Amino acid sequence: MTVAAAVDLLLSARRPVVFTGAGMSAESGVPTFRDDLTGLWARYDAERLATPEAFHADPDLVWGWYEWRRSRALQALPNAGHHSVAALAARIPATTVVTQNVDDLHERAGSTAVLHLHGSLFAPRCIGTPPHPAVFPDADEPEEGRRLAPPRCVSCGALVRPGVVWFGEQLPEDALSAAVEAAANCDVLLTVGTSGVVYPAAEIPRIAARSGATVIQVNPDPTPLDAVSTLNLRGTAATILPQLVPA
Ligand code: OAD
Repeated sequence: MTVAAAVDLLLSARRPVVFTGAGMSAESGVPTFRDDLTGLWARYDAERLATPEAFHADPDLVWGWYEWRRSRALQALPNAGHHSVAALAARIPATTVVTQNVDDLHERAGSTAVLHLHGSLFAPRCIGTPPHPAVFPDADEPEEGRRLAPPRCVSCGALVRPGVVWFGEQLPEDALSAAVEAAANCDVLLTVGTSGVVYPAAEIPRIAARSGATVIQVNPDPTPLDAVSTLNLRGTAATILPQLVPA
């Protein structure tokens, strides 16, 4: 399949799904997880930072790291790829955007109703029972790696935690079931900038392929999703997506 054929297929799709990972935001300056040198996990020990156990053992370390990531995400701007995803949905309103990213760059580019499988840096919640949205005072802008005590919930006094999904935690049920349903019913799935190795999110393109959809992958490097992709476009999100959704 050629790129021109992919453009035709995508723009004539009735129910497209766009599935994105950290590579989608890389050109906005948000580090990926697993790429050499820039990958977040290369500089930090994920097991120490992205688990409920880590937060309970050392809340200041974990909260400080997420506050640093939140400030990085706030400074970033959507790139041409995010804008192309929003343009696709503007042309085909039945488009579903599913992301593993915890930034808000899809929304800031104009995408709505984005399904965030791994939560959000901007939705901290209280660890009190029952779980509820956190009400807490603003913190100082932390520098990279600075320890920072998490605020306490004003309504119940428990610690506030980042609203992301940590290793060992369930994905948000509503977002996951909506994503599975969209993948099972789509005709074209565009997967962008994900290594496709973290489950259950990585099932989404595989569900689409099993259901008979055409899977188009955008990634500069090979991934395990090559096997289920009809077309593998080797390049970056900000360069390839504008070709797939011409203005
Ligand atoms: P990864 O860091 O595992 O993979 C990023 C992918 O993006 C790689 O395949 C890169 O080749 C590709 N990439 C890099 N730059 C790109 C660019 N400019 N354009 C397009 N692609 C590019 O990130 P994810 O697959 O998103 O989960 O990781 C999945 C999950 O692992 C994350 O959501 C996170 C992490 O653990 C949780 O925190 C629960």
